Amino acid sequence: MDGNGRWAEQRNLVRTDGHAAGEQALVDTVDACLELGIKWLTVYAFSTENWRRPVSEVRYLMNFNEQLLLRRRDELNEKGVRIKFVGRRDWRIPRKLLRRIEETEALTANNDVLTLSIAFNYGSRAELVDAVKALNAEGIEPSEEAISAKLYDPSMPEVDLWVRTSGEHRISNFLLWQSAYAEFVFVDAFWPDFGRNEVHEAVIEFQRRNRRFGGL
Ligand code: IPE
Ligand code: MG
Repeated sequence: MDGNGRWAEQRNLVRTDGHAAGEQALVDTVDACLELGIKWLTVYAFSTENWRRPVSEVRYLMNFNEQLLLRRRDELNEKGVRIKFVGRRDWRIPRKLLRRIEETEALTANNDVLTLSIAFNYGSRAELVDAVKALNAEGIEPSEEAISAKLYDPSMPEVDLWVRTSGEHRISNFLLWQSAYAEFVFVDAFWPDFGRNEVHEAVIEFQRRNRRFGGL
């Protein structure tokens, strides 16, 4: 969900106003997935590298995400959305936010229309390190299946369509393992301007691709 800061700067607003504007984009994106029958959406909300931002922005984002869960979880629950989090649940995440995360996951655990997976304090390399450590601790020989089974959410399917907003052409440590055969779509829109039409365009682009998975 990239480009919030630039969206705000273009409007002479403060960066955090861009994050606030991104909330509607997320809701619209979820609604578009519901309309299209997409079963799984993973969004990158906060990376293990985002802690390098100024404390004031980090603090804003922690509070914003907590409040967003409070504001939106009931309507998402009513739409049949199951909300899950992937990432390191460590001491750096404020306790209040951790509590909201756990409550939200419990509230929506039995929904099955769409899974909204929120990557928070997430880094793909950290995830792989954690997975390999878990295998080591249990004395399990690493294999593709064994590593997949130790990722933060082993039930997450492999990525079919991978979308980055804001005109950047980078992976930025997101779902490296899960995206081995993903189709990549890069869009110029900043995240607050992303929504239903942009989801449709990305899906149409995806449908034009010829996926061979290394075969012919
Ligand atoms: C993405 O928008 C939101 C988060 C990483 C939390 P940015 O904050 O990265 O916006 P730009 O890239 O500075 O425009
Ligand atoms: Mg950015």
